[in-house]
Amino acid sequence: MRTYVVTGSSSGIGAATARALRRRGFRVIGVDRNQAEVVADLSTPAGREAMVRGVRRETDVVDGLVAAAGVSGVRTDPATVVAVNYFGVVATLAGLRPLMVNGTWPRAATVSSVALLRAEDDELVEACLRGDETAAVRAAGAKSHYHYAYGATKRALSYWVRRAAGTTAWAGKGILLNAVAPGMVETPMTSYLLDGQEKRAATLERVDQPLGIGTADGVASLLVWLTGDNEFVTGQTIFADGGHESVAGARSLPRQEQRAFVPPASRATATTPRVGER
Ligand code: NAI
Repeated sequence: MRTYVVTGSSSGIGAATARALRRRGFRVIGVDRNQAEVVADLSTPAGREAMVRGVRRETDVVDGLVAAAGVSGVRTDPATVVAVNYFGVVATLAGLRPLMVNGTWPRAATVSSVALLRAEDDELVEACLRGDETAAVRAAGAKSHYHYAYGATKRALSYWVRRAAGTTAWAGKGILLNAVAPGMVETPMTSYLLDGQEKRAATLERVDQPLGIGTADGVASLLVWLTGDNEFVTGQTIFADGGHESVAGARSLPRQEQRAFVPPASRATATTPRVGER
């Protein structure tokens, strides 16, 4: 039986993921601030360490990990957004990775957001990627827009996933690592935008999602696949956003420069000068 750890397990996307995994007969160790197998506050270094200790008390091996705990940028101070949405998530992924090394078919996933699309590659993103929480908190407080820290930390998180996934610590150990980027999904985090017909209609118009507002179960099913059947996808941020990203960027796809194909047999000699050659 597979053993999963799911953070943010008492509400919204994390709760839906934990439910879906349990329905499949898997063991789920939930992590949250309350009502979870492991109660921990991921906004502080001490809480993150307590989370790792708490999970280790429950199991020696983790096969699947879903880091879904997060806070909204609305009515949450920027320092907490930075602490939970970036440093709490990275500490979860990095802190529990050693338990995944001996896992069977080990896979991890986290939850980014379409908000990353509107963030800049600026000082806050760079401070996150350097692992400098103090500088990140300072940078987050420098701009007053309530959504600033939220978008920047999600952008940094998706970069972190891209950078980590291919390394010897992750791919080298056979551990796949991805993110999902949901659009507007109905959970307790977004209920203030969706309660009542008028508010719902106004939100729907603003978010530009051809498939409408999403559900926590819809995002959970992707997280279950990424941490289950997924065989060949790693380092990706997959937009689960009812079409928002594809419509907004219909002509934007990643591009790489053409690289000349060097047949394997000649690769070794390509860098080795022949006798008489300089
Ligand atoms: P939610 O508010 O329903 O659930 C978040 C969970 O994280 C809660 O159970 C909460 O207690 C836990 N959590 C928050 N701070 C914590 C801390 N310091 N320590 C431990 N646990 C903590 O929200 P929802 O919507 O399920 O969000 C889950 C993830 O999805 C978040 O990362 C959020 O940013 C992301 N997301 C949500 C979208 C939406 O429309 N609902 C859209 C895009 C991304």
